[in-house]
Amino acid sequence: MSYLWETNQLVKTFSAGSSWGQKQQVYALQGVSLYQNQGETLGIVGESGCGKSTFGMTLMGLHQPTSGTITMNGQVINPVRNKQIIQQTMQMVFQNPYASLNPRMMVRTMLEEPLLVHTNLSQAERRDRVNEVLSQVGMGPTQGERYAHEFSGGQRQRIGIARSLIMNPSCIICDEPISALDVSIQVQIMTLLERLQQNQHMSYVFISHDLNMVRYISHRMAVMYLGAVMEEGSAETIYARPLHPYTKALLAVNGPVVPHMPFGQILEGEPPNPISPPKGCLFSGRCPEVEPRCLTERPTLNTVDGRQVACFHCE
Ligand SMILES: Nc1ncnc2c1ncn2[C@@H]1O[C@H](COP(=O)(O)OP(=O)(O)OP(=O)(O)O)[C@@H](O)[C@H]1O
Ligand code: SF4
Ligand SMILES: [Mg+2]
Repeated sequence: MSYLWETNQLVKTFSAGSSWGQKQQVYALQGVSLYQNQGETLGIVGESGCGKSTFGMTLMGLHQPTSGTITMNGQVINPVRNKQIIQQTMQMVFQNPYASLNPRMMVRTMLEEPLLVHTNLSQAERRDRVNEVLSQVGMGPTQGERYAHEFSGGQRQRIGIARSLIMNPSCIICDEPISALDVSIQVQIMTLLERLQQNQHMSYVFISHDLNMVRYISHRMAVMYLGAVMEEGSAETIYARPLHPYTKALLAVNGPVVPHMPFGQILEGEPPNPISPPKGCLFSGRCPEVEPRCLTERPTLNTVDGRQVACFHCE
């Protein structure tokens, strides 16, 4: 069976202006190869700026990849030409339900919009579909007649999830979906996501700073550093015995990490500037296990002890 989606050596660079007449680039993704099975949750963790959101947005077709391929349902995707395939396969829920919803639009109108653009459903059918997704997120039809700004943060995130469900996607990319919410509301949203997975076999890419949450929700996980995957495999295996020095450092602190606070407190130093990443191992500047070889050669992902690890020391 083919994967729901698969990326092969996905690279994304952004222009960062020029310095001394030289054009500069931010290396946001440096060859990311990941995949997802239907119905599973893939957790993505890593310090602020490591490329988690860029990966999600590139997968969604919101950024044109610089190089590498994305395959969806067995077909290599062109983000410009295959927008419809992407939107039918995956949708995204963003961190900030205040910024990601148009406050001046009636919720029903917002939810109906993609149906108008992408389907031939009649007005009555569209109404039924909107009511159906509202009910899936625990809201009634009358709440659809209100405006997004009339709702609390948790309710807005429910609306964000309803919007992501409207086209019946197989996968939702959740980019820090609960970090802006109160803890009690976080639990409600996580319960909702879990229920959708159980009832609809929904797949999630779950991007988060909260390692405990990722452990709880993910079947597989990928640890990213400076635009590359350092370790990838079953969440259970990695949490039980992390192998990559970076994963070990992340998991050394047992407890939720404050959203948008760098993980830096637990590691010496800062991640290097993504405009000039190290030539050798991307983690070499902060690695307690660094060897001379790490400064000149970049390790690739290898299967070690039932997971993928990019580290010479773990081979
Ligand atoms: N549109 C853009 N233009 C230029 N640089 C960008 C753009 N988007 C992201 N970047 C850069 O790409 C790198 C990866 O950013 P990204 O937002 O994907 O990180 P992240 O892991 O999601 O971080 P956070 O945890 O803070 O959300 C960063 O260095 C960021 O500054
Ligand atoms: S390759 Fe070297 S520098 Fe990189 S993580 Fe492994 S030991 Fe550390
Ligand atoms: Mg982000």
